[in-house]
Amino acid sequence: MDRIIIRGGNRLQGRLAISGAKNAALTLLPCSLLTDEPLTLTNLPRLADVDSFGHLLNELGVSTTVKRGSNGEIGRDMTMKAKVIASTVAPYDIVRKMRASILVLGPLLARAGEAKVSLPGGCAIGNRPIDLHLKALEALGAEIELAAGYVKATAPAGGLRGGRIGFPVVSVGATENALMAAVLARGETVLENAAREPEITDLARCLVAMGAKIEGIGTERLTIEGVDRLHGARYQVMSDRIEAGSYACAAAITGGDVELLGARIEDMEAIISGLRTAGVTVTETGEGLRIIADGKLGPLTLSTAPFPAFPTDMQAQFMSMLALADGASVLTETIFENRYMHVPELARMGADIQVHGRTAVVRGVDHLIGAEVMATDLRASMSLILAGLAARGETKVHRVYHLDRGYERLEEKLSAIGADIERVGND
Ligand code: EPZ
Repeated sequence: MDRIIIRGGNRLQGRLAISGAKNAALTLLPCSLLTDEPLTLTNLPRLADVDSFGHLLNELGVSTTVKRGSNGEIGRDMTMKAKVIASTVAPYDIVRKMRASILVLGPLLARAGEAKVSLPGGCAIGNRPIDLHLKALEALGAEIELAAGYVKATAPAGGLRGGRIGFPVVSVGATENALMAAVLARGETVLENAAREPEITDLARCLVAMGAKIEGIGTERLTIEGVDRLHGARYQVMSDRIEAGSYACAAAITGGDVELLGARIEDMEAIISGLRTAGVTVTETGEGLRIIADGKLGPLTLSTAPFPAFPTDMQAQFMSMLALADGASVLTETIFENRYMHVPELARMGADIQVHGRTAVVRGVDHLIGAEVMATDLRASMSLILAGLAARGETKVHRVYHLDRGYERLEEKLSAIGADIERVGND
């Protein structure tokens, strides 16, 4: 397994291109199942999870062709065509490696009237149940059976029918599955307390480009008028707000000056507000956002919550940045039950962090010291990279396959703006 070695202390300066959003790509890819015409997604990030999803779609009978993107080395285009659905089974060996596979459930039900998907199981950050996905599909008439570690879903004889779905808890994935099922259901569907993450808006816009009828896009109430069929489309994946936020933290923690090309301010307001409160200068340029940090950072009190509040996917990265702030910060993780796996690793680098249940108190220290550390999950891995960029000496991050799931060409992007970073194999 690869590991990444960083020699900390360099101030990051320059321009960095932000890739297409992982969490938009993973819900746009299954849209190809909803039509027998070609769907082309552009600006797709080169990530392990995108590759895995492509393999899953191939298993289901979707042909996929990939070509270089128009954005040079960053991203690529993929054209998918599900002329017929050859299989409605998402097998355990694929789903266990990529829980987002559950997002084929809604589209398969809508297009083929049935689906058998391995239960995704938990992961490092929590047990990740899918009860809200299943309740939503039942509200559209699906019959759900759980057996031998699989979800078996069957649509009624005449196909899914519209219904009213009120989510008790905001769920990105459940909103996505419900939306992709409802667009082909007979009649009207209303989703209440739907997730409002920008990735949901991207999904809705792609579905509309394919001929779906959706009202309330960007709000917590989505109204969908089912249509008989969807047609193909060409759609550009939105830029990754979490990647952009992660590299903004890299600029902040190294006292740098970095322009994030393609970053969209409207997707990142809570992240930007946090950076500005900590003393980081964030300005909109014609091509993205410019991040300038030229002094000690101030402490923050932050709670993660669904969009538009501060995103859980940025908690670990902010924690690294605040480990060097001038004072004590208080972070509260309200979304996942186990998203502090980075804390003991940061402590090994000299961070002073106390966790009490869902809350972490981060007391800023004068400096961090490079060490060998272990990545545990995607965003925790990035927090270790960030700490390594600022630490004195050398940091070796093991199990960087976690990183490859969410950050395209990480070492190249960071090296190009001054980081002393390299990937070495055979961990
Ligand atoms: C998506 O996960 C993202 N993944 C996550 O990003 C992100 O952290 C999360 O949304 C929250 O923003 C993708 O988009 C592929 P949820 P998802 O359903 O859909 C509970 C990253 O680092 N819940 O919004 O799985 C759940 O346990 C990843 O890029 C149920 O109880 O998240 C959690 O506490 C990590 N029942 C809360 O809701 C359900 O049926 C939010 O989960 C579904 C969820």
